[in-house]
Formats: sequence, structure tokens, C-alpha cells
Amino acid sequence: MSPWWTNAVIYQVYLRSFADSDGDGIGDLDGVRSRLPYLHDLGVDGIWLTPFYTSPMNDGGYDITDHRDVDPVFGTLADFDALLADAHALNLRIIIDLVPNHTSDTHPWFHSHDRRKRYIFRPGRDGGPPNDWESVFGGPAWSPAPDGDDWYLHLFDATQPDLDWHNPEVADEYADILRYWLDRGVDGVRIDVAHGLFKADGLPDVGYAGQDHRLDVLPFFDQDGVHDVYRRWRKILDSYPGDRIGVAEAWAPTADRLALYTRPDELHQAFNFPFLLAPWQAPAVRAVVDRSLAAGSSPTWVLSNHDVQRHRTRLGSAARAQAATLFMLALPGSAYLYQGEELGLPEVLDLPDEALQDPTFSRSDGADRGRDGCRIPLPWTAQAPAFGFSQTGRPWLPMPADWAELSVQAQQRRTDSTLALYRHALRLRRSFAGELAWHDAPEGVLVFSRSSLTCTTNFSDRDIAITAPGSPVLSSAPLPPIRDDGAVLIPKETCVWWQ
Ligand code: GLC
Repeated sequence: MSPWWTNAVIYQVYLRSFADSDGDGIGDLDGVRSRLPYLHDLGVDGIWLTPFYTSPMNDGGYDITDHRDVDPVFGTLADFDALLADAHALNLRIIIDLVPNHTSDTHPWFHSHDRRKRYIFRPGRDGGPPNDWESVFGGPAWSPAPDGDDWYLHLFDATQPDLDWHNPEVADEYADILRYWLDRGVDGVRIDVAHGLFKADGLPDVGYAGQDHRLDVLPFFDQDGVHDVYRRWRKILDSYPGDRIGVAEAWAPTADRLALYTRPDELHQAFNFPFLLAPWQAPAVRAVVDRSLAAGSSPTWVLSNHDVQRHRTRLGSAARAQAATLFMLALPGSAYLYQGEELGLPEVLDLPDEALQDPTFSRSDGADRGRDGCRIPLPWTAQAPAFGFSQTGRPWLPMPADWAELSVQAQQRRTDSTLALYRHALRLRRSFAGELAWHDAPEGVLVFSRSSLTCTTNFSDRDIAITAPGSPVLSSAPLPPIRDDGAVLIPKETCVWWQ
């Protein structure tokens, strides 16, 4: 039997926005614990929990002060242990976030005498920063040292100084943090900015402004040195009982470069961002699927997360989003879902400036409104203003007044809801097996099969007739009856599963 993670569905819990148990308006560990039955009923295999560590929360907890403790706003270590135990009792795995590229500037290391050995400090050039690197959040990637006339590197916010991974002390510290959480019983780690730890020798200029941090070849991303780290971590993961996994959040300029992160002695998986970025067009989607499968290792699929526009909005309609989800869930490999996509939540595009919290907004001088729109708390019930997310508090981001209909409570009552579709799909998916084979299809349609399943997806904006490949078992939109001659009209922007 193949290991659990090769065909698992992992549900990303963005902790701050999932469920608030204590009324402060911010989601927490006990909130997740109280909703485990929901996740179990939904039919996922595990949860990826975003950072819950001690943090000043300048970047939603990706700025860590103490990687071995829980921030009081999220609960306590005991709450974490209780959550893990309850999840395991329901057969749900827990993957936690590991953030090795940077710490918070409130981390004791950044205030120690050794800070220049543990972080990346350099003298400035011509009165400005040491080189032309740009922060992923906008603005220069360097800020003046608080205690000298040199500069420190921060690929993200100025409060997130980059660690110097050439220092063995840094590497040892993270190996120890990894062991600490594996000892507590976690099933795996999602590695934040896994492609960032090493920078090219000499920290050379990029040479131009407007650096594309996702696709460009850059001296601060995807350097070969990172792979030794993952080889070491793989040995640690393998030294624990059960299949503990490492998942890379890595952006690499090509599929071949990305595949290096998942060599057999490195990490188990890497997020498939090319799939996420694919436009809603049959040939583009097919090409990205083929490239992903050809990469050899265990394929993963993802359409949404806490850093990108929700796929319902990105793809342009609820119909497309549902079709894309069914298409994804039929593919071989494992899938990552982002909380709220099972409710069909859209990106919230009209948050007022004063509500915005993502540092991207201020660092880009408002040019980029940031990622808050995909981080709105989940609506559990139909009662505004907090929709059951929080009993007493005001949610940390305002929730749209018309989200009652999208709430779990409202959707649970309806058999035609997005939630019902996800539940049904996740149940059926458990029986899928085998490799993917493409079949001929009219332009705009993709048809593939895996043993007894056939998946037909109409990407076009008109209904298209095909020969019914079996009996329909699930459809992202109502399907007309099969005609006497065996033909069936697949509605536009619809995915159908057949057996
Ligand atoms: C990753 C996280 C993102 C965070 C950044 C810095 O990309 O997914 O949310 O802001 O790393 O840690």
C-alpha cells in the first residue's frame, strides 16, 4: 500500500480566521479543536495548521519570537497537545508550519551579541542598502541595523530578518525545533519559503527593479545550498515512527528545479504552484498536469491558499471554481484545500484601507492591497456580524454582511451547496486509483480516466456534446439527461465524474 500522503487531501487551517473560542475576535487552537468533527465529516485526511507560535503578528505569525511555544492569543502548548490528540483520535493528521528563513526581530537572537553571525548584516553602498534586492512585500530588502551603520537583510517585512544559514548554529537550531515538534507527535511540516534559506555568494545585484519573486531566477531564491538542509531533515523525519512528511513551499523558475526539492532523500512534496497559476484554458491546464506528472515524485495539487486570491474570484466564477475543484480532486496525487473554499467563499475585494493588516499594503505604499481578502474569518452560522466565527468579539477582519447564505449552517441544509459538492467529492475520491490516461475530446474539453473513473471538464463558455463515457456520479452543475444516441451535453464550465 502506498503511504498515506501520496493521495491525501489536506485542509489548510489559517488559524487566525478559522474559529475563535474565547471571544477576542481571533481564531485559536481550541476553536480548531471544537470544529474537528466538521473537518472529519467533510472527509479530509489531515490539516495543515498555519503558525501558532509566539509572535508580534506583523505577518500573521510568520514572524516568530519563540518557535517552541504557542502565542497566548492562540492558546497554550497544552491546547496544542489536546488538539493533536483529538485530531489523531479522528484519524486526522496534523502538519504544522516551520519557518526557517527568518525570525521576528523580537527573537532573542536578534538582540544577542551574536546577531551578526546569525542574521545577514552587510555594509551599505553609496549611502544606501548593500544591493538592489527587493522585499517580496515591496520596498528594499534591507533596513539599517538598529545598533550600527550597516544593514540587515529581510526578504519579507522589516520585522522579519533573514537568518544566516551558513552558520551551523542556525542549522542545528532548526533541526532541534523540527525534532521538538515531531516528539510532540506532529505528522509533518510545511516548510515556509523553503527556497529562500541560502543566498548566492557575494550577494550579487539582480540588475533590475520590479523583480518577480515567483518566476525570475534570483540570487536570493532557489540556491543549491538549500538541498543539504532538506537531506538532513529527511533523515530526521525518517527516524520517527509513522510516515512523517515535509512539504516545501518552494517557488522555482522551472519544473525541473522544483523537482529537486522532492528527490527521494529530500522532502516528500512541494506545492504545485504552476497548477494554481494555470489560466482557465483546457490546453494550459492539460500541459501543467502533464508536466507535474512527468516530474516523477508524488504530485500535489492546490488552487487556493492564504497568500493568493481565492480561486472562485481568480478564475472568474463560482461555476469555474467548482469545476476546477472536481477536476483537481480526480487527479492522481494529493490535494491541498484552503479553508472556506468548500463554502465557495470569494475573495473580499472591498475591505476598507483601515481594516487592512497585511504588511504588503503599507510596504507597497498601497499599490498592492495585500492578502487580507482571502483571510476573512469563516462564516459558521447565519448570524451577522461574526457569523459564529466568534461568539462575542469583533472578527479581526470585517466579514461581508451578506455571508449568511455562504455559512456552514446554511449550506448544510442544502443538497445543492458547494459544501455538499465537496463532501460528496471527497467521499467518492477515496475509491479512485490508478494512473491518468487522456482521451480525445472536442476543443475546450479535457477527458481523462483512471481505472473505472472518467473525468470530463468543459472549460469553454458554451455547452459541448460528447459521448457519455459511463454513468454520471457527480457533476459540478446540473447535467441534462443522456440522449438515446449516447451523447450528452456538458454544460459550459462544468466538470463531471463518470463511472
Ligand atoms: C510564506 C507564507 C506567507 C508569509 C511568507 C513569509 O510565503 O505563506 O504567508 O508571509 O512566507 O514568511
